[in-house]
Amino acid sequence: MNTRILATSPLVGNALQELGARFPELTIAPFRSIAWKMSLAHAEALVLLLSEPLTEADLDLAPRLKAVGTFSVAVNHLPVEACRRRGIEVVNTPGVLADATADLALTLLLSLTRRVREGELLARSGGWKGWAPDQLLGTSLAGKTCGILGGGPTGKAFARRAWALGMRPVFWDRENKGTPVDFGAGLARRLPLADLLPQSAVLSLHCPLTPETRGLLTMPMLLRLPEGAFILNTARGGILDEEAAIQLLHQGRLGGVGLDVYEGEPAINTGWLKAPRTVLLPHLGSATRETREAMARLLCDGIARTLGGKLG
Ligand code: DGY
Repeated sequence: MNTRILATSPLVGNALQELGARFPELTIAPFRSIAWKMSLAHAEALVLLLSEPLTEADLDLAPRLKAVGTFSVAVNHLPVEACRRRGIEVVNTPGVLADATADLALTLLLSLTRRVREGELLARSGGWKGWAPDQLLGTSLAGKTCGILGGGPTGKAFARRAWALGMRPVFWDRENKGTPVDFGAGLARRLPLADLLPQSAVLSLHCPLTPETRGLLTMPMLLRLPEGAFILNTARGGILDEEAAIQLLHQGRLGGVGLDVYEGEPAINTGWLKAPRTVLLPHLGSATRETREAMARLLCDGIARTLGGKLG
């Protein structure tokens, strides 16, 4: 039998296997392997990871394609416009990873502001001499403003966490209509970027990487932040000018940068490894078992619907 579902990974949980049973047959082959390329001719649905950039030329080899699914909320690695022109549905996983990603952004924030990495190293070093009044002093957050780029589910989930810490969330997003954002625990102002940055003791990125947001945070933009501001990026690497941020860390102009995503990942600009006051994670935003299972189910449900059926 010819494959109908062509995936590059078994994902997490049972959803993909159920999809394969519902729409036989399922082939799992590494992205761009010979088996994957050969299966394109018959595939009606692709299941890809965020690290697998599909091109329009791939679509040319897949004439029966009805759905391109990605195990991510982000779709910047897919030829979305070409899919639209060809009537191919793009299926992603919005919403279900908002809490997990916001939790990770919060982890980055507290690790930076309470100097968790340095404290841990000191505790493990054998060289700790005991409590001292000025030891590893961090930065308090209550009463400060948290600028959030992106008013979608993850930006709102992070706003709730910032609110719980006593911070005041403000938003910038594509809407930019000046109307407030209802983030679930209150209303927050939506500001132009130039107004948001000077107020933001913390700036957290939760917007998609699009032509409008690519390179959004340039050196002149970063210089609008208050002295000692903290930047968190759990969205996409291309939004922040990495060289500019590294330079500002060395100058002591930024309080710290916490990253889960990088331009050109999995390679990490070595400048980050040498820069002071950073916390660096390997793209773990959605990495809880519950979240990844929910993502797999949402994705496979969406593909099943596109193929004219449903799961379970
Ligand atoms: C996504 O789904 O785009 C996230 O980056 C995964 O963590």
